[in-house]
Amino acid sequence: MSSIASYKTRRRQFASHMQKGVAVIPTASEHLRNRDAHYPFRFDSYFYYLTGFREPEAVLVIVADADQSKTKHLLFCRDKDEKREIWDGFRYGPEAAKEAFGFDEAYSVTKLDEMLPDLLANQSKLLFALGQDAGLDARVTSWINKVKEKARSGITAPTELHDSRLILDEMRLFKDSEELQIMRDAAAISDKAHRRAMQFTRPGMMEYEVEAEFLHIFRQHGAQSPAYTSIVAGGANACVLHYVDNDAELKSGDMLLIDAGCELNGYASDITRTFPVNGKFTAAQKDIYQLVLAAQEAAITNVKPGNSWDDPHQAALQVLVQGFIDFGMCKGSVDAVIESDDYKRFYMHRTGHWLGLDVHDVGEYKQNGEWRHMQPGMVLTVEPGCYIRPADNVPKPFWNVGIRIEDDVLVTQTGHEILTIATPKSVDNIEELMR
Ligand code: GLY
Ligand code: MN
Ligand code: MN
Repeated sequence: MSSIASYKTRRRQFASHMQKGVAVIPTASEHLRNRDAHYPFRFDSYFYYLTGFREPEAVLVIVADADQSKTKHLLFCRDKDEKREIWDGFRYGPEAAKEAFGFDEAYSVTKLDEMLPDLLANQSKLLFALGQDAGLDARVTSWINKVKEKARSGITAPTELHDSRLILDEMRLFKDSEELQIMRDAAAISDKAHRRAMQFTRPGMMEYEVEAEFLHIFRQHGAQSPAYTSIVAGGANACVLHYVDNDAELKSGDMLLIDAGCELNGYASDITRTFPVNGKFTAAQKDIYQLVLAAQEAAITNVKPGNSWDDPHQAALQVLVQGFIDFGMCKGSVDAVIESDDYKRFYMHRTGHWLGLDVHDVGEYKQNGEWRHMQPGMVLTVEPGCYIRPADNVPKPFWNVGIRIEDDVLVTQTGHEILTIATPKSVDNIEELMR
């Protein structure tokens, strides 16, 4: 996690954007998987960003005042419970949580319904992310109605509802130095796993055996989980963009596309590498691979402050489409193929996304209808690909080749830093590692 000072700074910054009002920011709820077994709990990213607190059943309440010295940060969390702690493990309880996480006040989460109407009294503005949890939406409504019941005593209820995510998305888009260190560490673990996969993979193995190496290395190095379900796709499976069955045999002569990254202390890494199952590229595989790699390099070159979000995508597209024409997969000029969308038969997704606490992280891509410009502190993925399904108008050696190359890139003052630079991606480096 980040330092307590960082969480406090973020809360203060958020409160100063709020100016005056009350923000209610809950963590995620727990979900049953079957009967008594739950899905592994993962805190809400917004809540975690502001608190560092990982327990379920917790709510952050910020009562912001224009006079910042009067602003209060309150945590509502589970009580200590000796019996439950024997079954489920340690819980802080309000008193210890207040000290450990630097809140002004902390209370039992069972006190929410009693206290929130008082906290909302005579406040005009409520910040809350409506529509995330129907149960909590109803409780917020009931708190406001409770305040309204006191109208005859001259007490007023909030009349403005703001989406708390508007402020937080913009804050989260710019990573601070502690977040960046965690993201570098996450990238380093994912890098180990990808290099291990290149060394481990042999024809005749099952995709899930390779997936298991990822899970092993993620946990072995302290990552809590994969940041998303790993894609381990041999041969034609690589042309299914969200392939996650990972249960087919890996065949000599096929490529293997692996899109896998760990989550470390809440932060995602997201790496894709594609390599030959038998360690040696065929001529056709090499043609397409080097095309995608050139597109990725062109895109990464375009990651720098002042460039628009769309620049890396357009740069990748120019390279890919020229290649599709050269290889006889598309006909006409580059501009005409882009204009007609004909290239989307082989490249149907965009070239990246913001990366952070969420693998597809928050943050606007456009502002006032225009692609936003990159600024230092933003982290994005750069992940062009090419997926060739069998078709009459495509040269046969390319059929069923699916390739994506994905790195995590930080926008710096002068350009960019590739957080995942260590993971081999040139033909020579991959073949050498696999030898
Ligand atoms: N692994 C998810 C993505 O690449 O977007
Ligand atoms: Mn990605
Ligand atoms: Mn990915």
